[in-house]
Amino acid sequence: MRILSIESSCDETSASVIEKSEHNITALSNTTATSMTIHAGTGGIIPENAARMQVKYILPIIAASLIASRTKNTKTPTNISEIISEEKIRLANQILIDDIEAIAITYGPGLIGSLLVGVETAKTLAYTFNKPIIPVNHLLAHIYANYIGRKEKEIKFPFVGLIVSGGHTDLLLFTEHNKYTWLGGTRDDAAGEAFDKVGRLLNLSYPAGPEIEQRARLVSNPTVKFKSPLIGSNDFDFSFSGLKTEVSRFVSEQERIDTNLKNQICYATQKAIIDVLVKKALNAKDEYNAKMVLVGGGVSANETFRKILSSQSDIPVLFPDKEYSTDNAAMIGAYALLNYKTKNWNDITANPELYFA
Ligand code: KG4
Ligand code: ZN
Repeated sequence: MRILSIESSCDETSASVIEKSEHNITALSNTTATSMTIHAGTGGIIPENAARMQVKYILPIIAASLIASRTKNTKTPTNISEIISEEKIRLANQILIDDIEAIAITYGPGLIGSLLVGVETAKTLAYTFNKPIIPVNHLLAHIYANYIGRKEKEIKFPFVGLIVSGGHTDLLLFTEHNKYTWLGGTRDDAAGEAFDKVGRLLNLSYPAGPEIEQRARLVSNPTVKFKSPLIGSNDFDFSFSGLKTEVSRFVSEQERIDTNLKNQICYATQKAIIDVLVKKALNAKDEYNAKMVLVGGGVSANETFRKILSSQSDIPVLFPDKEYSTDNAAMIGAYALLNYKTKNWNDITANPELYFA
């Protein structure tokens, strides 16, 4: 089965053509436009700016992804005019008619304007091209990113799912497809948000996770230490807002922050975040006798985190390919293919507050 999936819950606009064969989930295309350069200028996402860019990109990205699924050219067009020719739109429509059996769409959680762009586009395509539509929870899809490019049976239930993104930090237990329990999550800021807020304190690039990771790697002799919040608590909760306050206090007490000290702060921040993520993920797998741990979300791109969690776990830990760690449409498709539940198009509504049912 081959489907088209669409993701537009935050600042990315992404479309993918993805298929499930007897054993494998394969992304034939995954085409993403991001408005991050605009948000980098403002140091954070301004929802109206993100949604307006998505209005501009959504149809060209979908067309590009449909065409790429046949040509295997996965390069995202840098210029919309590369796509908007009558001939290309006609080809994309034909591929949608001929190759695509259903349309999957992120309906929450996320920014309302951004979600609306994707949801209403998907509903319109489903209606006009007469295709079933599958609404997908963006958070669950981050975990299912691990199925892309893998054999379905390689992943064994029960598994612990750890979502670590810019907006969410959650631990779940999956006992089969369509069946999961929420174990715990952050009480305030998300792990990625903590990276980004510390980045702002240190005037780093936005989003700050990758730069903090790079700078931390340069530290061979750590001299700064921050508390790892809730690391000793006997639950699956997280809290990262206190870390930002601790770093902020530390920064304000310094006369001068040179490059070395900046790197030290990055190291200590990253360590405080990683230590608690690793501890609670391992506690969860022990308590529930899980066979695997699956991690997803932007922070799962962090190599140091990957190495530490994998080396401390006595069961396999899976991370998505980097392309599928941050927001992308292929993961929405992977979730839809393995949890195939269609809905009538007019029963689907963008839900910014969607969490775990
Ligand atoms: O999943 P994602 O792309 O978007 C949301 O759904 O939120 O996650 C974005 C977050 C940002 O906070 C960013 O700083 C963080 O992922 N991130 C990283 C790394 N790459 C992205 N955090 C730590 N290390 C990284 N290498
Ligand atoms: Zn996400």
